[in-house]
Amino acid sequence: MRKMVDIDFGSSRYDELVNLRYKILLEPLGLKFLDYYRPKEASYLHIACIEQLDDKLLGGLILAPVDNEEIRLMQVVVDEDFQHKGVGHEMVQYALKRAKEVGYTRVVMHAMLSVVGFYEELGFVQEGELFDEGGITFARMVKSI
Ligand SMILES: CC(C)(COP(=O)(O)OP(=O)(O)OC[C@H]1O[C@@H](n2cnc3c(N)ncnc32)[C@H](O)[C@@H]1OP(=O)(O)O)[C@@H](O)C(=O)NCCC(=O)NCCS
Repeated sequence: MRKMVDIDFGSSRYDELVNLRYKILLEPLGLKFLDYYRPKEASYLHIACIEQLDDKLLGGLILAPVDNEEIRLMQVVVDEDFQHKGVGHEMVQYALKRAKEVGYTRVVMHAMLSVVGFYEELGFVQEGELFDEGGITFARMVKSI
């Protein structure tokens, strides 16, 4: 049985999630997690999916406040061995619920073109033109909550 949890910035679980984000998202793109980013993440909401049987971290994501209304969904990752089992959907749905609970009305994100379908299934819609960053094509996506 898996559960969704909020995790504390700087905790050992946070470090574990940073490592998973690196392995799944950054390393394949040849990018590094720079310590420069760490302090910025203190004000973000960090969410993880944990398998309760063995306490294993299955995935996680970040919610970064933009202003009083809007929060940005970022760095959504699921461990390779647990992808395509519904973890991603469950995590994003939990994140939308948490964002609403703490008072935000709109979630925004930049999705790699390859995962636009995943976010559309979760009710996000594309806004504006596609754009390129570091040779990767992204779509701006939004959802009112
Ligand atoms: C994208 C990701 C977060 C999805 O999480 P997940 O737990 O595998 O997704 P779920 O099982 O909840 O949903 C999968 C469904 O979403 C849809 N989907 C569309 N594009 C998809 C994609 N590129 N990868 C996974 N699912 C996708 C499909 O309907 C898929 O159904 P299927 O499993 O029958 O093919 C995960 O695969 C991942 O970490 N990928 C690598 C990192 C990444 O690309 N992150 C997004 C950054 S913008």
